[in-house]
Amino acid sequence: MADGEWWRHGVLYQVYPRSFADSDGDGVGDLRGITARLGHLADLGVDGVWLSPFYPSPGVDFGYDVSDHTAVDPLLGTLADADALLAEAHRLGLRVLVDLVPNHTSDQHPWFLASRSSRDDPKRDWYVWADPAPGGGPPNNWISSFPAVGPAWTLDAATGQYYGHAFTPQQPDLNWWNPEVRDAMDGVLRFWLDRGVDGFRIDVAHRLGKDRDLADNPPELAGARKYAWHPTLRQRNLNTAEGHAILRRFRRVVDAAGPGRVLLGEAVVTRPEELARYLEPGELHLAFDFAFTYAPWDAAAVRAAVEATAAALPPGGWPTLTLSNHDIARIVSRLGRAQARTAAVLLLTLRGTPVLYYGDELGMADVEVPPELARDPDGRDPQRTPMRWSPGPGAGFTTGTPWLPVGDGADGVDVASQAADPRSMLALHRRLLALRRATPALQRGSYRPVDAPDGVYAYLREDGADRILVALGFTARSADVAVPEGAMLLLSSDPDRAGGPLPALRLGAHEGVVVRLPS
Ligand code: GLC
Repeated sequence: MADGEWWRHGVLYQVYPRSFADSDGDGVGDLRGITARLGHLADLGVDGVWLSPFYPSPGVDFGYDVSDHTAVDPLLGTLADADALLAEAHRLGLRVLVDLVPNHTSDQHPWFLASRSSRDDPKRDWYVWADPAPGGGPPNNWISSFPAVGPAWTLDAATGQYYGHAFTPQQPDLNWWNPEVRDAMDGVLRFWLDRGVDGFRIDVAHRLGKDRDLADNPPELAGARKYAWHPTLRQRNLNTAEGHAILRRFRRVVDAAGPGRVLLGEAVVTRPEELARYLEPGELHLAFDFAFTYAPWDAAAVRAAVEATAAALPPGGWPTLTLSNHDIARIVSRLGRAQARTAAVLLLTLRGTPVLYYGDELGMADVEVPPELARDPDGRDPQRTPMRWSPGPGAGFTTGTPWLPVGDGADGVDVASQAADPRSMLALHRRLLALRRATPALQRGSYRPVDAPDGVYAYLREDGADRILVALGFTARSADVAVPEGAMLLLSSDPDRAGGPLPALRLGAHEGVVVRLPS
């Protein structure tokens, strides 16, 4: 497979920079810390890393409120540190995707400071400004995607107009109808491409290009937040035709930088057809399939989500699969510890590009964050707590006071404790990643479901003579799964089951297996 296609067969790993590794003892993770720990990613066996934002940010949304897109937050390092990180990652054979946040900036960004300074400022039109509704109040019925925020509008008393914000009032939305905004963001893409990044994860890609006339959302959807939809009605501030045009523009910039540069979109949709549009030729390479992420832990439901997306994809379209990120509860906390092992087998054997979230390879759980330590405006601190490198007070993350609690660590959930333990979650991930890397059928093979008892999801991955059967138990019941003569067990999520010839397969409770079939 051509190198330019690495993103199809590779595996990505998301790092939340504030929580990965702290090199200077201030309690906040930083770029030097990440660089020093890249060996962990190489040992794990992933192909690339996606870094959540490390740009200067007042920290209202911890990096997702960017005040300078082409610099590094002093809390996290310098541009030289970013260059060093890129160089070390590339030396280790790891690609690097950085986060692009094009929908909004911080209200402290010089662009917004200029824009709000006066109605006549040349940058006024760079943001979404509108007069109050005729009777007063916000210009339309759009709401923020953070429930605590309410309307997606804030009145700027000094200039008498409202500005739009899909998230907090400190994150004003850029006006993507303005050609200068488009040029400026092209410049941001080029800046990082020139420094050698391998691509971008595009924050809220579905929010670009909002309705030009700022028309109300249909009343049926007015109160609907990001996951609501209707078979015929559409929200005017999400998944618009103009938004797709903007992403195709990003694609041209990325393609011009050479092969192998990738766009991975966070596109929140509620219908597979909507997701498929983002993956049309000339648009995004990859887009998270959140129907998969949010599917209930049920064999039939997960299968249905996988197949609905696969059926909708355009020619050449490729799924992107994740089970967690910095916005949702950790896998172990959502599904359970035994289930999380099966989930790892699922994620790393399905057809598509898997994205792991830091700490999931250890089975890190959400950490309870007491109200006085809470930081995030949308309650997402528990899934953003520091990476656990070793037992002990700072978990090897920091020598100082961690910005979020590291948890008590009594459970052996840390890299040092698990590295030497063949039964650990880390060992399971390393074996799965090594198996995937060595198995063309898992990297790029076809997908075909096979009949299985209730509560079991089973599928074949095939690439020529390379044939793999995956069977996953979603319940505490054991189940018999048919296997042909000559089958060979390659891996089980159950550390007590050894590989080898497999004349018959009885799956244990919450067990997932990978089986080689005779060709
Ligand atoms: C995306 C990010 C989330 C952030 C929001 C606003 O959904 O993943 O963390 O709060 O965009 O930028």
